Amino acid sequence: MSRFVLNGVLHRAEAPGSMTMLDYLRTRLQLTAAKEGCAEGDCGACTIIRVGSSGRHEAVNACLMLVGQADGAEILTVEGLESANGGRITPVQEEMARLGGTQCGFCTPGFIAALVALGHDAGPLTDDTIHEALAGNLCRCTGYRPIVDAAREAGLSPFHQPARPPEPTPAQRHGGHAFFAPTSLAELLALRAEHPDAMLLAGGTDLGLDVSKERRQPPSVLHTARVRELCAVEEASDSVTFGAAVTYTEALPALEALYPSFGHIVRRLGSRQIRNLGTIGGNIGNASPIGDTPPCLIALDATLVVSSPGGEREIPIEDFFVGYRRTALGRDEVIRAIRLPKPAPGEIFRAYKVSKRYDQDISTVIGAYRITLDGGAVAAARIAYGGMAAVPARARRAEDALHGMAWSEAAALGAGAALAGDFRPITDHRGSAAYRMRVAANLLVRLWRDTAAPGGETDVMALGAAELR
Ligand SMILES: Cc1cc2nc3c(=O)[nH]c(=O)nc-3n(C[C@H](O)[C@H](O)[C@H](O)COP(=O)(O)OP(=O)(O)OC[C@H]3O[C@@H](n4cnc5c(N)ncnc54)[C@H](O)[C@@H]3O)c2cc1C
Ligand code: FES
Ligand code: FES
Repeated sequence: MSRFVLNGVLHRAEAPGSMTMLDYLRTRLQLTAAKEGCAEGDCGACTIIRVGSSGRHEAVNACLMLVGQADGAEILTVEGLESANGGRITPVQEEMARLGGTQCGFCTPGFIAALVALGHDAGPLTDDTIHEALAGNLCRCTGYRPIVDAAREAGLSPFHQPARPPEPTPAQRHGGHAFFAPTSLAELLALRAEHPDAMLLAGGTDLGLDVSKERRQPPSVLHTARVRELCAVEEASDSVTFGAAVTYTEALPALEALYPSFGHIVRRLGSRQIRNLGTIGGNIGNASPIGDTPPCLIALDATLVVSSPGGEREIPIEDFFVGYRRTALGRDEVIRAIRLPKPAPGEIFRAYKVSKRYDQDISTVIGAYRITLDGGAVAAARIAYGGMAAVPARARRAEDALHGMAWSEAAALGAGAALAGDFRPITDHRGSAAYRMRVAANLLVRLWRDTAAPGGETDVMALGAAELR
């Protein structure tokens, strides 16, 4: 049984750990403020707030988060805000009503929860942070401006004092369902051997869809979020190692400090709700050809540390993806960590994501580039793409085309032409094969403009069609 503090009161959930929080709140507790819009993490109508052991207030999608994931945490829903605010309606709710930030009202509790979480964030409150915090919330009525105005007018300051959460439960059982949340790697591996068919769950932003959208209920779940060896970020002289269960939100400060362009990609990955649950390990384990972190990690020559009861081995991430959604991971193995080398002197890293929408959208094409320049010539280049093949992969012919060349627009165009030897992309609803090839080549020109052209960084949105051949 999952135990958590719900709106200030200790709660024991009489439900399988694999039920979604949204179903649990709405159908078992009749707490219906959080709504089901899309059931797949896109609309934010289901947003609730999770306060973890760090005391951070995190907006999360209740349609993806499972009841078992709430164990040992504190959950705030919009129903609990008034009492958390000393019996008064919160300023952001007042301003939403006063400024017309709500019309039909379906999306409103999700917006309120996202903004209350933002108000408890230590960071600055600016239009940019408001927009970033709301990128995962859709409204079909207001046009958003009154919502942003309400956030600005309300001031959004913290008011909720985290409660003392209950001790986490290592194994939650309900009916025939089991939800295991081990705290050590040894326990995780032993449970994986004992329950080979259990769903190996990190943040659940991919797997949660199986439950939420496909309405599957796995009989057993093996949750990695409490495994200490998977939750650490460790710095060495030449690398930083991220535990596989470190969430994007937790990884961002170290990632941004190492590789700002990688940090920028992660800030565009899903929404805050998704980044508060989702993990880099999950992005790799999912093995999607259009996942955002694998091309960056391949270009940066990252190494995966993989554990099994037999011990540990290291796999260069480049060798990890062996076919469409197939990986080199054995059945008894888990990804323990991802080791990212620190940048070497003179090295440049850039990554560019192209998607139909700027926010909260999956990549059509993503390119990642690590180049070393020596006296204006390309001394080394490592290039990887997502969205161009069945797996995220290196562009070796483009790399070869660059090697030793003066770093110029002509060299970038030459490398772009060489991509035809690297990839034969498919046509799907995100883009045609020809579009993907064109974009992948154009991104090399963008790289050149950003790193060598007079004037420095370009805003690709501002480039005219004629400039993007
Ligand atoms: C609305 C929405 C927007 C999204 N936007 C993006 C986006 O912009 N870019 C992007 O790349 N992705 C996006 N995603 C996909 C998803 O958020 C990411 O892939 C995320 O990193 C998955 O991590 P997770 O921890 O939630 O994984 P989970 O769903 O828990 O697991 C995913 C897979 O990884 C496996 N796994 C997890 N941990 C391990 C481990 N330690 N060892 C071995 N296998 C493991 C699981 O078994 C499962 O197969 C989006 C998803 C949603 C719902
Ligand atoms: S219901 Fe749309 S994000 Fe959860
Ligand atoms: S107020 Fe109607 S969907 Fe936002």
